[in-house]
Amino acid sequence: MAPVSLASTSLNGGDVTTNGVVYTNGHTVNGHHAVKKPRQDGFGTRAIHVGSEANPETGAVIPPISLSTTYKQSGIGIHKGFEYSRSGNPNRNAFESTLASLEAGGAYGLAFASGSATTATVLQALGPNAHIVSVNDVYGGTFRYIRRVAAENQGLEATFFDLESATDEEIVSAFRDNTKLVWIESPTNPTLRLIDISRIARLAHSHPSKPLVLVDNTFLSPFYSSPLLLGADIVMHSLTKYVNGHSDVVMGALILPAEHGAFAEKLRFLQNAIGAVPSAYDSWLAQRGAKTLHLRMKAHGKNALAVAKALEKEEGVLEVVYPGLPGKTEAARKKNALAWKVLSPHAIKFVGSSPETHATSAPPPEGFPFSGMISVRLRGGKEEAEKFLTSLRLFTLAESLGGVESLAEHPAQMTHGSIPPADRELLGIGDNLVRLSVGVEEEEDLVEDVVQAVRAATGTA
Ligand SMILES: Cc1ncc(COP(=O)(O)O)c(C=O)c1O
Repeated sequence: MAPVSLASTSLNGGDVTTNGVVYTNGHTVNGHHAVKKPRQDGFGTRAIHVGSEANPETGAVIPPISLSTTYKQSGIGIHKGFEYSRSGNPNRNAFESTLASLEAGGAYGLAFASGSATTATVLQALGPNAHIVSVNDVYGGTFRYIRRVAAENQGLEATFFDLESATDEEIVSAFRDNTKLVWIESPTNPTLRLIDISRIARLAHSHPSKPLVLVDNTFLSPFYSSPLLLGADIVMHSLTKYVNGHSDVVMGALILPAEHGAFAEKLRFLQNAIGAVPSAYDSWLAQRGAKTLHLRMKAHGKNALAVAKALEKEEGVLEVVYPGLPGKTEAARKKNALAWKVLSPHAIKFVGSSPETHATSAPPPEGFPFSGMISVRLRGGKEEAEKFLTSLRLFTLAESLGGVESLAEHPAQMTHGSIPPADRELLGIGDNLVRLSVGVEEEEDLVEDVVQAVRAATGTA
């Protein structure tokens, strides 16, 4: 399978564009032939242009939705690249090229019917009797698939670990001869543990079993984090969240770098064999959503930082977990430093840091935008949490996250209700924990809303 290539569009005069990378035409300088230097368009430019070329037949600027399930062949096996819509569809293919371009370091993009279908497909690709190491508070549906489906059906064994606090020795001792994958979610849901992806990738790749490192990048989106640049082998997304961003599509994706062509091919085979494919309409909608990903992620991050800061000042709040905030404990400061260190190249630009000095710079004391998810521990318990959630005016009490509208939920009874209470306690998912997905409404309205709800719920002023 060749990496996604979109050589037909020219964004810079006569230059050639391949998957968002613009190669300037070589010319002679002082008698020497200048080296062709690749120049890459910025994140927002790629979001809008890659995979969205004007229709060559009609000139339509927005790609038409291709609903046909089958495609005419002029002779047996002679066609224009499409045979049957499960194996390939113009809207899905176009969107896959957008995804491969947005996830820095990506060459192959595969879109699935949901984040969960994506998880199922990648775990099936490991074959029978494999072992994986996974972060402990992985998304509940991922945990369920590993424990209740893959364990039973393919003998998959899993070791769950707090990969945030585990030492190098503890992590390495978890690897076995048949360890094929390390599953990272960062930040985790809902406690927002932050995993040092480059450390885990270094440990995994230097172990003889050479497990692949997969990062579920749903919470940060390709805008704030580029796991492939940190050494990960595969990135996965529930596109249902930030990438689509409008709470109206369920979809998932995998993105792999150029060196994993063979594995991408295997995943593509499974995707078709299993039929875990998204519809043309959903692909089209999600591509439309992705065009504003950079604008939305900036607004989510700015609003979340303002909301987190306002909540920190409230007497009714015990703790605000937001990796962009400096934090009050040693652990929170470490998390903040790691969040700063791992910002993607485009997020580094957005937060006003310098690409040249960023790696050695300290995070700003006033905090910085780091996606839109916040977890809050309220003074009190279940009753106060429920009162907070029902006192909110703009934040809707609902599961899910990453849409333009602000949402709030109670993990202990909603998204993480299926986890036994003792395990929830160990993970830090108490009855007083609420999770906020901060949307892109006006900052001051959101701040006013959470402050009044905390005060109403906890009887503070
Ligand atoms: C981090 C994470 N990964 C995967 C999934 C599963 O995605 P989907 O709901 O699109 O199947 C979710 C869903 O909430 C999620 O939050």
